[in-house]
Amino acid sequence: MKFSKSALLALATAASASPTKRQSAAPGACPSPVRLDASTNVFRQYTLHANSFYRAEVEAAVRQISDPTLAAKAAKVADVGSFLWLDTIKNIERLEPALQDVPCDHILGVVVYDLPGRDCAAKASNGELKVGELQRYKTEFIDKIAEIIKRYPNTAFALVIEPDSLPNLVTNIDLTSCQQSASGYREGVAYALQQLNLPNVVMYLDAGHGGWLGWDSNLRPGAEELASVYKRAGSPSQLRGFATNVAGWNSWDQTPGEFASRSDAQWNSCQNEKLYVEKFGAALRTAGMPNHAIVDTGRNGVTGLRQEWGHWCNVDGAGFGQRFTTNTGSELCDAFVWVKPGGESDGTSDPSAVRYDEFCGKPDAFKPSPEAGEWNQAYFEMLLKNANPPF
Ligand code: BGC
Repeated sequence: MKFSKSALLALATAASASPTKRQSAAPGACPSPVRLDASTNVFRQYTLHANSFYRAEVEAAVRQISDPTLAAKAAKVADVGSFLWLDTIKNIERLEPALQDVPCDHILGVVVYDLPGRDCAAKASNGELKVGELQRYKTEFIDKIAEIIKRYPNTAFALVIEPDSLPNLVTNIDLTSCQQSASGYREGVAYALQQLNLPNVVMYLDAGHGGWLGWDSNLRPGAEELASVYKRAGSPSQLRGFATNVAGWNSWDQTPGEFASRSDAQWNSCQNEKLYVEKFGAALRTAGMPNHAIVDTGRNGVTGLRQEWGHWCNVDGAGFGQRFTTNTGSELCDAFVWVKPGGESDGTSDPSAVRYDEFCGKPDAFKPSPEAGEWNQAYFEMLLKNANPPF
């Protein structure tokens, strides 16, 4: 179902004016309240929705492509299920319009991403909230998102909680910025897990990727870090497990792995995401946290591009990866999903920008690239041309 912008605004205004009267009126939503059982793989029942925000970005991109064959392929990207990022307080306004067209057999994927002192080990995604602004995070960000989700009990939501945050506390705690962020991350993530623990929600807590917490010496501390925050949140019933490879580049099951011939590979038994899901999943189980995963396959269609495993910014030559499926071949992996919206930048390549991170200037990073989250048409077209499977 399509809505004009003014109709959406009217809906949003009506909703905020009389929140109590509004009982899940999202058109197309289920006739009765959705109850997700997080002890099962809900993606078997609900298809990841191709959200209207990314659809609009892709449709605008299609209009810029003059080659009709490429334009026709680009148009198909709009139909791929992907996650909507809530990365600032202001961008919460994207949520309500995006849930209007979610039918009863679909689930809306949402990334919750605005912790105080965000992106403590890098610069490109530093957020709006400073260390110490946890109260604002709780009341102006998490509470507002929870309010909207409660207003739409007949719509299903899958949430990825705070990419990179807890993994940074495991491996980058030598940095002053991460030390300063640590208590706010733990309390903030626990608060998010608690407040968003709603019947129509399943949650996956971000666990980095195999080249990060997959190192043998990081597996256990990583699992314990996540599990401790989960327990602090009161072991919420709607937490299904963890998300990996978010905005990442790792192959699902390339064997031997992309970096397996490196001399340090002996210290990392998770040379692809499948191995990582299995080993980190086992460590989580030992640590007492639910351990099913979703894996971001949005941009991992091409491997062999990165000079180093840790290169994360706008990798040059990348291609779109597997589209949404629950056919993963791993009991622990619920689904392949697109979390990072392909075409949105990871960070600016402009060295004079405040949020310039040197990783975005590496030889294997695509240039020029705009600020994190902004659209990069050339990058989108490259992902499309290199898509694997192709469009
Ligand atoms: C950026 C966010 C953006 C997200 C999705 C992150 O790297 O920091 O602002 O919403 O990517 O593109």
